[in-house]
Parts: sequence; C-alpha cells; structure tokens
Amino acid sequence: MPHSLTARRAKPLSGDINVPGDKSISHRALILGALATGRTVIDGLLASDDVMATARVLGQLGVPIRNNDGEWQVMGRGPGGLSLDHAQDDGSLGTTTPAERPVLDFGNSGTSARLMMGVLAAHDIKATLDGDSSLRKRPMGRVIEPLLEMGLQVGGNGPDNEEYRLPLVISGTASLVPIQYTLPVASAQVKSAVLLAGLHSAGRTSVIEPVPTRDHTERMIVHMGGEISVEDRNGGRLISIEGQQELTGRTITVPGDPSSAAFPIAAALIVPGSQIIVRNVLCNPLRSGLFETLREMGADIEYKNEIVSAGERVADISVSHCPLNGVTVPAGRAASMIDEYPVLAVIAARAKGQTVMRGLGELRVKESDRLATTLNGLRANGIEARIDGDDLIVEGSENIPGGGVVATELDHRIAMSFLVLGLGAEAAIAIDDARMISTSFPDFDKTMSRLGAEFDAGPAGRA
Ligand code: S3P
Repeated sequence: MPHSLTARRAKPLSGDINVPGDKSISHRALILGALATGRTVIDGLLASDDVMATARVLGQLGVPIRNNDGEWQVMGRGPGGLSLDHAQDDGSLGTTTPAERPVLDFGNSGTSARLMMGVLAAHDIKATLDGDSSLRKRPMGRVIEPLLEMGLQVGGNGPDNEEYRLPLVISGTASLVPIQYTLPVASAQVKSAVLLAGLHSAGRTSVIEPVPTRDHTERMIVHMGGEISVEDRNGGRLISIEGQQELTGRTITVPGDPSSAAFPIAAALIVPGSQIIVRNVLCNPLRSGLFETLREMGADIEYKNEIVSAGERVADISVSHCPLNGVTVPAGRAASMIDEYPVLAVIAARAKGQTVMRGLGELRVKESDRLATTLNGLRANGIEARIDGDDLIVEGSENIPGGGVVATELDHRIAMSFLVLGLGAEAAIAIDDARMISTSFPDFDKTMSRLGAEFDAGPAGRA
C-alpha cells in the first residue's frame, strides 16, 4: 500500500464481504500448532505482516510451516521441541542461516513478541528478541515479570527506566517453575504468555484475571486435546493449566476478525443509506464490546447464521445505516473492545451528542499512543474531542468538516479508522502512511472498494 492515502465522501455502501482471518487466533494457531505433536492444518489464516512475524520466528526455531494455496500446515515439534539448532533448508518459511539465528525479529507485532516470550521461557534457548521502532517502545515488563518468577533469565540492558523494552536477550530453561499469578493489567497477551510457559512447567500454573480478557488460547488448548480449567471469580476468572501436557495437531478454521470487520461496519454506519453484510466473523463475547456499544447507540446490527467452529462462535453480521446517539462506555468493557476505540471514536463523531469512553489507559501502550493519535486525528478534521484522565470524550455532529492529514504513527488501526471517517466527511481526509495496514488487513482497500468506497493514492488533489 502507498505511503499516503486519501478518502472522500462516499455514496451509500452496499454488498456482502469477508474480512481476513482473526489475528489473535492466527498467531495462536501457529504457536500451538508448533508446540503440538503432529500436523496442524489451518484454513483462513491471516497472512498479514504480524502473523508472518510469528511464522518466521517459529521457522527459525525449527518448525516447518508451509502454505499450500492458502491452506497452512504446521509440523508440530511436540512439547519442549523448539530449538535454534535446526537449520531448515527445505524451502519452508523461516529458513535461516546460522549467522541470522540469534535475533528473533517480531516486526510491529506485540502479540508475537509477548506470546513467544512465554514459549521461549520454557526452552533451553538464548536469543535476542527485537522489533520495529513502534514495538521497541512498548512495555515488555508485564510479560517478563511473571516469566522471571518461573525461571526465565533476561540479559542485555535489563529494565530501562523501570521498564523492559526490546531489544532484550533472554535465556529460557527446560525446567520452569509453575506459579500462581494475578494479572496487574487486563491483558490477554500476558495471560497467554504465562499459560504457554505453564504448559511446559512441572506442575499447575494459575492465572487470575480480575477482568476477563479474550480467551482464544484457552479455547484452542482444549480444541487440541489439552486440559485447562476456567472458574468465574468475583467478576474475573481463575485459569489453571497442568504442565507437561501433550497437545495434538488439529484442523483449525480461522474465522473473520471482528477487529477488522469493525472498519467496514463503521463505514456503513457513517455513510447514509448504506447496508452491508460481513460474513463469517468471530463473535466471541470477549471480543464483542464494540458491537454491544453500537447497539446501545441505536445501531441496526444483527448476527445471522451463528455456528461454532474450533471452539469459537462465528456469525454473519448485517448492518444498516441509521442515526446514532452518543453513550457512555464503561471502563469494565475496555478489555472486550480494546482495539476498537479509534474506530468507535470516529463513529461517535457522527452520533448525536457526546460519547464518553472511560478507562482507556491501556491505549497509551498500543502500536501508537492511541489516546493521543485518535484525539489528534479527530481534531485535525474539525471534531471536538478531549482527554480527561484516562477517558476520551467526543462531541458528535451531523457534519464532519474533514480536510485534515492524520499522522498514523506506524499504527494500522489509526490509518484505517481515519480513512473510514473520510468516507463521511465534507472535505477529504488523508493519512500520512498506509503501509502498516498490512500488519492486520492486507486487502483493506480492495475489500472497501467492493462496498463502493475508493481511496486515492497520495495526498494530492484533495477536495
Ligand atoms: C491481543 C490482545 C490485546 C490486543 C492485541 C491482541 C491478543 O493486547 O490489543 O491486538 O491476541 O492476545 P493486550 O493483551 O496487550 O491487551
């Protein structure tokens, strides 16, 4: 995709589309497939830059991963079977030369880096973990701290200003100690890293999450024949896993990503007269906070043809444009829509009245400081908005002036959110860099054009 891209006011959007596979499930399918015994076959894998970062690193660790016309196959190495000593020279993804082996590069992908830290902690492997300039800014202490308790060692620079950041040199061990760990932040990445480490340790590892977060790791472990216990506890959950279990390679069909479906759905809600269907979308309740909020705002959104696939609920989502009202989104809902606030802010700009989104501190440590990038993008386009502590407040209006250039700060979701806003604005909206969109939604422009929304390359000729 080109550096800058411009979106102009669109005619009513219509059509029936699919969005790419769920990013969270795609990472987990590759990782758990690599740890299982036997072959895992994955249909609908999101072949985006982020997921390919996971695939490449697993390749460096000796896991053969192949793509046969969109059907991905992972040859599992079994428990504790990853190693930097396997040089793959069979044409499979992730082929390395000995000189390249020690650096594992996760690109822009926080999920790859954090989940793989849990896996690497349980292997007798020493490696340098690194990422791009956005990932290097993101906090890693939240994952490192529990893994240190389990036996991981961290070399290199250690914590910088009280925080661990990439690049980091880590040494894992085949004899991890199980722990009971209460998550200090609502993070499925941290939970998953501890559970993946726990899967290898000698004994029972438990994670207490005060607020439930996406549970794809737990569901997929069960789908692959593993045992994990999940108990509700004071509004949160206690999740326990016995170590040294063997998972079995399985077939996994990855449903469409609700975090990607959010963009065409937002576009349909912003552009009057629109009516669209997004097929085959994951509708796990721990990911559905945006849709719940949109219904409270008055949106006409329906789930149809619900099924269960690989332990996950999946449905077609139909959306018709209708007037929306501002609402207050409680902080307790943040975990179930953590990636959707930039696009909700954009929808809120077209709603009647004020929308207050509470408890968004975690947005400061995403691919960009999303509180700041969202606020700046709204203001650059004539929308009144402010941050109050950890809350974001957007004043809705019937007319979005537009005409701004949005700084995306290497953040795919900021890029897509403001292109969507441009479809309903008076004057065109440009984003400075569309390249990161391929980290999660490689065919975003083609998918949107199927609904009738075209984007122009470059900032030139804006209305
Ligand atoms: C993810 C968890 C979330 C989310 C990210 C994907 C996952 O991050 O923002 O895009 O796949 O577990 P946190 O765990 O940091 O909230």
